[in-house]
Parts: sequence; C-alpha cells; structure tokens
Amino acid sequence: MRILVPAAVLGLSLLSVAGLSAPVAIALPDDPTEFVDVPGGPAAEAINNNCRACHSASMVLTQPRLTRSEWTAEVVKMRHVYKAPVDPADDAAIIDWLMAMSEGRGPAPAG
Ligand code: HEC
Repeated sequence: MRILVPAAVLGLSLLSVAGLSAPVAIALPDDPTEFVDVPGGPAAEAINNNCRACHSASMVLTQPRLTRSEWTAEVVKMRHVYKAPVDPADDAAIIDWLMAMSEGRGPAPAG
C-alpha cells in the first residue's frame, strides 16, 4: 500500500524542522569581575586560573557564606559534574581563598 502525503503537509514539516535547527544567539552580560586577594587568604591566582573559564567570578561572589565542606563540595561538583579542568594541586589554595572570602559574609553557618 502506498501512503500519499500531501505536499503542503510535507513542506510544512520541513519548514518547522528547519526552524528548530536555526542557530540561536544568546548575549550574555559582560561581567569582567575578577577574584582579588582577600585578607587572611592565599593569593587569588589559583582561583582566577581555574574558575573563570565558564562563568564570571560573580557566580562565586554572590553565594552566601558556606562551610569548608560546602566549598569543597562546590569545587568537586565543578570538576565532576561540569568537567571543569581544575588542577588538583590548586584545590587547597582555591578552598582556602573561598573560606577567607566567605568569612566576611554573615554569621558562620552550622556544620
Ligand atoms: C567547566 C565549566 C566550569 C568551570 C571551569 C567552573 N564552573 Fe562553576 N559552574 C559551572 C556551571 C555550568 C554552573 C551552573 C550554572 C547555573 O546553574 O546557571 C556553575 C555554578 C557555580 C556556582 C554556583 C552554585 C552552583 O553550585 O551552581 C559556584 C559557587 C561555582 N560554580 C564555583 C566555581 C568554582 C569555585 C570554580 C573553580 C574551582 C568553578 N566554579 C569553575 C561551570 C563551571
């Protein structure tokens, strides 16, 4: 048995497929914020080198105060979930910097 598909229907579906695959441009806000040295912390170099490839520093700087284990879990999540190429040799400097930065932000969280 032959199935006849009306040309109009075929044309329409081809059009919608073409519409779906059209490139989409998304303009991200220009956020040149960098990590800077903070009192009591290591140099911001390690976090600047490892943590600005995918999102701005603001993604980190707008977080609430976290515990050391929560910041450690963030770094682990970036590496394992988002495949961030974070140099393991820099983990300590990154987490120490995050703790020093975070300390000025409200009361210490439980845990
Ligand atoms: C490979 C890309 C990539 C790199 C490199 C990266 N991140 Fe992320 N990060 C992400 C993505 C994706 C999100 C989720 C963004 C969203 O939800 O809109 C995110 C979100 C975050 C958040 C917000 C909280 C959360 O868990 O979603 C923090 C804090 C953060 N990143 C910290 C870091 C730190 C610290 C580093 C360096 C150790 C880092 N990121 C490096 C991809 C990356």
